[in-house]
Amino acid sequence: MIGAEDPQVTRRLADGNVIPRLGLGVWQVDPGQTTEEALSHALAVGYRHVDTAQIYRNEEGVGRAIKASGIPREEIFVTTKFDPRRQHAEKEAEGSLERLGIDYVDLYLVHWPQGGPTWAWPEMERARERGLARSIGVSNFDTDELAAVLAGADAPPVVNQVEFNPFAFRRQLQEQSEREGVAIEAYSPLTTGRNLGDAVLAEVAARVKRTPAQVLLRWALQHDTIVLPKSVRPERIEENAAIFDFELNDAEMSVLDALDRTGGTSSAREGKWW
Ligand SMILES: NC(=O)c1ccc[n+]([C@@H]2O[C@H](COP(=O)([O-])OP(=O)(O)OC[C@H]3O[C@@H](n4cnc5c(N)ncnc54)[C@H](OP(=O)(O)O)[C@@H]3O)[C@@H](O)[C@H]2O)c1
Repeated sequence: MIGAEDPQVTRRLADGNVIPRLGLGVWQVDPGQTTEEALSHALAVGYRHVDTAQIYRNEEGVGRAIKASGIPREEIFVTTKFDPRRQHAEKEAEGSLERLGIDYVDLYLVHWPQGGPTWAWPEMERARERGLARSIGVSNFDTDELAAVLAGADAPPVVNQVEFNPFAFRRQLQEQSEREGVAIEAYSPLTTGRNLGDAVLAEVAARVKRTPAQVLLRWALQHDTIVLPKSVRPERIEENAAIFDFELNDAEMSVLDALDRTGGTSSAREGKWW
């Protein structure tokens, strides 16, 4: 699946590695059985990508689901993230791998630019050189922060994972990232559930005979991102994967684009937690 070259389903990153466009997000999923069950169901219905992080405290559950699935390791794309309140990205990668029970992750991200954008990068590169991570990238980085990393990098980041949905359509950040070969991963693609009842969204959903969640995910795919919806409910996990068999037309895309409340910002976040 990861090797599949269908540009609808996968995307080739600037370092040559291939990433599935749909991944299961597991932020706020209880560690242990809930994580294991959610990911097991996702893998059973065709997901081949999971997005976890050190701070989600559920890497063990992710690892158990991967193992129990019987799917060859190389067919599942696994992302984890370095907690930048810690010191050493390389050592923390080893800890994540131990908890995940695997010997490499496909993508390792600096979770947010705490303490400045560049200090963690040399160890991120070292983790990649050692094969602990196949690809490396950042998350929650503004255009300036991304530019700072790119300026000093031997191995540039290939991904910037940011909040990205019609209500937070970060057009300038995406344009700048893409110009530099950095793909946008859309986190909170379902607005963490907050705007699923929006009236404009409901109208588009009714027109294309899909659910609001599917429309949001499809919108993000058509903006060439990688989407990471989170759900712990089997029926929603399936609903969120049924997004490759319909299209939004230009008018529908424009109506959704206009929901943006960020002014097409170059910023990665309005409120920062760091
Ligand atoms: N890098 C970062 O700093 C960062 C920050 C935030 C998120 N992320 C990543 O992005 C992932 C997704 O973002 P998110 O967790 O903020 O939320 P999200 O995927 O935007 O929305 C998830 C919420 O929507 C509900 N939901 C899921 N599918 C639904 C559907 N089909 N219909 C109605 N409701 C549905 C979920 O509830 P149920 O689970 O009950 O279905 C949950 O409450 C995270 O899990 C994480 O992997 C990264």
